[in-house]
Amino acid sequence: MVNRLLANMSLDESLIGIHVNWSMYFPTVALIHRHLENVPEQLNGWVDDPLQQSPKLIQAINETAHEIQLNADVLVVVGIGGSYLGAKAVQDALTPYFGLQENGVEVLYVGHNLSGTYMKQLINHLHNKEVYMNVISKSGETMETMLAFRVLRNYMKNRYGNTHNNRIIVTTESNNGSLKKIADQNQYRTFAIPSNIGGRYSVLTPAGLLPIATAGIDINQLLEGAKDAAIHFKEEQVERNMAYRYAVIRYELYKKGYQMELLACFEPSLAKLQQWWQQLFAESEGKEQKGLFPSSVCYSSDLHSMGQFIQDGSPILFETLLHFNEVDMDYFLPIEERDEDALNYLTDKSFNEINTVAKEGVTAAHADAGVPIIQIQLKKLDAYHFGFLLYFFMKACAMSAYLLKVNPFDQPGVEQYKIKTLELLINSVIYKN
Ligand code: PA5
Repeated sequence: MVNRLLANMSLDESLIGIHVNWSMYFPTVALIHRHLENVPEQLNGWVDDPLQQSPKLIQAINETAHEIQLNADVLVVVGIGGSYLGAKAVQDALTPYFGLQENGVEVLYVGHNLSGTYMKQLINHLHNKEVYMNVISKSGETMETMLAFRVLRNYMKNRYGNTHNNRIIVTTESNNGSLKKIADQNQYRTFAIPSNIGGRYSVLTPAGLLPIATAGIDINQLLEGAKDAAIHFKEEQVERNMAYRYAVIRYELYKKGYQMELLACFEPSLAKLQQWWQQLFAESEGKEQKGLFPSSVCYSSDLHSMGQFIQDGSPILFETLLHFNEVDMDYFLPIEERDEDALNYLTDKSFNEINTVAKEGVTAAHADAGVPIIQIQLKKLDAYHFGFLLYFFMKACAMSAYLLKVNPFDQPGVEQYKIKTLELLINSVIYKN
């Protein structure tokens, strides 16, 4: 059993159910590590970004967030994929389930779907509320984003007239794309997404940081966690680098015939983190007919649905259990004199403690059924540890894709969807006329 312990995080490999010949991976992992760290022409700017953050940039983001908090009830964030999921993942994980974070304003997202109903209801929801907008697109060309931006820009012009441009903030690559041109022509404020950081690796750039800060989350703590992770995961020896060990275990399980990885969480607020993780791994690895299919479950709810398949169905998957040891709040069962439901025996346990027992129960049951289990634990669900975790997954993902011999930083399949949809839209207009 190998249980790698760090103060912040641990990776428990005791239930993976396979033997990994680690020494076989020493040279390959070291080679990939050096490539990832040192070859500048690829989209690997995120590797050192947390170590090079400009205090001026972070101050500008915090000041803009503060301005929005003072002047708006709602920040509408327009974006999709990597220009949406990271910010939403952090926001959902670190703000209350009900109501707003202290100081935070309501941060809503649009442009990540093509639902007319969603758009209509969003516009209705803005009625009588003071609004700011942050449109985020690295390319500045993405169809869903640009359609929603057209609608919301129109809305802002009608509502705020000549002063509307003070309320629109554009986050895009500094030199390319229609969005940058529109921003310049209309004097919208801009934040830059570095050209050497791709969408799904951009959560710790202004693409993620402005919405996150506006929601009331401490981005300095988030970046501190990412920075510590960036230092920690610079270790090239696979035996001492948890991100690389996670990558190698995934790869070994893939080679043994497992086709799917399920990321299982125990807190519903982590659902968007799971989607961010799915995007990260699916777009980085799923190419050239290779890669594990990344999927996710939330326990305990999914134990009453997917749990059956995981326990007894086709043996195609392994589980990665993600658990935070400390969460912000807890609740105890009230004692009842008559104990009609016979639950008094649990009154000295909190909900979080019962959740942890359920985790131990499901781990034992799935392990007994032969499901390989990787266990990742973090000390606390807070901004610092979240930043640490995001960076861990990005480093692991890049290593994992290179082990598969695919490029972690392109997405030819997504581009294909964009081309086909554009073709169909153009054809439908020509046909109509
Ligand atoms: O990871 C990626 O690069 C993609 O998923 C993009 O984030 C997504 O397509 C949105 O692109 P853009 O930010 O250019 O609008």
